[in-house]
Amino acid sequence: MLGAIGNTPLVELTHVVPPDAARVFIKLEYFSPTASYKDRMALSMIERAEERGTLKQGMTVVEYTGGSTGISLAFVCALKGYTCRIVTSDAVALEKRRAMEIFGAKLDVLKSDGGKLTPDLVPRMMERAREIAAEGPSYATDQFRNPDMVAGYASLGEELLRQTDGKIDVFCGAVGTAGMLVGAARVLERGAPNVRVVAFEPATSALLAGGAPGKHGVEGVAPGFVPPQFDRTVVTEARGVDEAEGRRLSRELARREGIFAGTSTGLNVVGAIELAKEIGAGHTVVTVAVDSGFKYLAGELYAR
Ligand SMILES: Cc1ncc(COP(=O)(O)O)c(C=O)c1O
Repeated sequence: MLGAIGNTPLVELTHVVPPDAARVFIKLEYFSPTASYKDRMALSMIERAEERGTLKQGMTVVEYTGGSTGISLAFVCALKGYTCRIVTSDAVALEKRRAMEIFGAKLDVLKSDGGKLTPDLVPRMMERAREIAAEGPSYATDQFRNPDMVAGYASLGEELLRQTDGKIDVFCGAVGTAGMLVGAARVLERGAPNVRVVAFEPATSALLAGGAPGKHGVEGVAPGFVPPQFDRTVVTEARGVDEAEGRRLSRELARREGIFAGTSTGLNVVGAIELAKEIGAGHTVVTVAVDSGFKYLAGELYAR
């Protein structure tokens, strides 16, 4: 199963992109075993720590997470025989929390401000993860600070170079830890040196774009601080994207493109289409379908 991570399809959006815009391609990361791109970074964080000897059998793996990372880590830990402790919150989709438990993780669920993602939430989760890690022999993967997390996305960049023959003008996506965008872009820049790399955030919390952190409802992105792995030498620009438009587009993606994905994917596609209109026909924009829509069925995204 670990070998089934990655090598995901890249498809062109042919119905939701206007005709005079650039072509928009989307990498379907929900084809990975736990249905999100986080499988790549979970495997990288675990295997690199094993190689260094900082993670050994008998130790507990501890992480704080907005959801998908927890599922991927629980999956990798199940296969490798580690106990997995996850700090998460009730702002995270119930399906994601259940999936972590089904892969064998033990959960600490913190209370959020009415199910919303507020700037104090991730720091509180980090603090609880630190407490748990101090309880016994453990390895705290500490995703936001861990360079192994970023390195896990090199494979995504390599696959994109092969799938596009290096013909990419813009690579873009929403940023949480910044691992996916920075990790893939570092590789893309070698094969497509003029690629423009654009980070997206919900417009109500567009901190990287120069705004203030705020409340939003896009799981996994815009943690309320500048993520330590966000590398401005790789990322060309950041911009806020309308979250309601992202939700609308998530539903349209299912009906018109056959792509059933999560909230952040809707945000990615709204931003990608905006960029495609700006740079015009004859160019190529690439973004990512982060995870599967099946993880969001109980929430607002696909509510009737
Ligand atoms: C659903 C979802 N979308 C987007 C992201 C952002 O990805 P990254 O952390 O690589 O910036 C995450 C990360 O947690 C996520 O869970």
